[in-house]
Amino acid sequence: MTKHNITVTSFANIALIKYWGKRDERLMLPTKSSLSIGLQTLSTITHVSFSPHNTLRDTIILNGTCAQSRTQQKIINFLDIIRAQAKTTQRFTVTTKNNFPTAAGLASSASGFAALTLALNELLQINLSKQELTKLARRGSGSASRSILGGFVLWNKGELPDGSDSYAQQLFDHTHWHELTVIIVIVDQKEKIISSRDGMRITVQTSPFYNQWLTESAIRLEKIISAIATKNFNLVGQLTQEDCLGMHHAIHTSVPVIDYWNPQTHAIMQTIKELNEHKIPCYFTIDAGPNIKILCLREHSLAIIHKLKKQSGIQSILTSTIAPNPIVIREQPREQHDH
Ligand code: PMV
Repeated sequence: MTKHNITVTSFANIALIKYWGKRDERLMLPTKSSLSIGLQTLSTITHVSFSPHNTLRDTIILNGTCAQSRTQQKIINFLDIIRAQAKTTQRFTVTTKNNFPTAAGLASSASGFAALTLALNELLQINLSKQELTKLARRGSGSASRSILGGFVLWNKGELPDGSDSYAQQLFDHTHWHELTVIIVIVDQKEKIISSRDGMRITVQTSPFYNQWLTESAIRLEKIISAIATKNFNLVGQLTQEDCLGMHHAIHTSVPVIDYWNPQTHAIMQTIKELNEHKIPCYFTIDAGPNIKILCLREHSLAIIHKLKKQSGIQSILTSTIAPNPIVIREQPREQHDH
């Protein structure tokens, strides 16, 4: 049997205009389009190979240990989708490692499923186009569709019931805006209590503010694309922050109430307000967890970090530029004989 071994490095992404809510849970079709930037500092490395002949189950090692059953099942369900597409019953050995906390609202599922999609496309030689890969990654985790590409990425919600027009595309590559910097402030490394899947369902079904957010967010999306094109930092920052606050307002007004923030989240939001009052422009965005990402220009990043370091309750601070496309490496195949 020919032994292939594929290694993919992919990057997490942070949505400036968020995705929150599905119109089809099975096909992972979103209620709205979203726009993100890749984060070069937050990466996932995934190795995949064929499991030995006659192996009945996939082997999944996440961050050095066998993945927990819920995560493992999510990954196996995704491998089943790929097996169906590639018309194979082959089992796989997947070893994946994040260089940042898993499932704490730092988009580990995005970089993880993007890496897995790219690795299996290469291992099974399915030869999907970039666009098709974004649709496949979407089935693992919606935001993973955006981590198939680096730079500034738009995930079109699409209209069709089969999801064939719900794909991601790169609007600008990672070299478009060198000065744009993201400061990632980690205040809690634990896994979130309510998964984004459940959180989305509850918000869509119960929040009285959800539809308003959808309408306003569509207008923000149009505006932010031109603001990114002209590198209008303040406008990009304001629109990003507004979209995040709109999403969390809908989340907070769900029944039962969902709150992904903690006291440190609020304290950092206050610090950001103070920095702006001192003429240091910076804006925040937050996903389904308490950790904050701050958008700023490179020239201001040290002053912002300096101020944050005086604050209690912060576990770590990372700085990121915009990520390039994921990197796919195929180890030279070598002949191996089964005994
Ligand atoms: O792809 P998921 O299921 O991890 O959902 C991501 C949701 C947010 O991170 C909150 C927003 C987004 O667009 O990434």
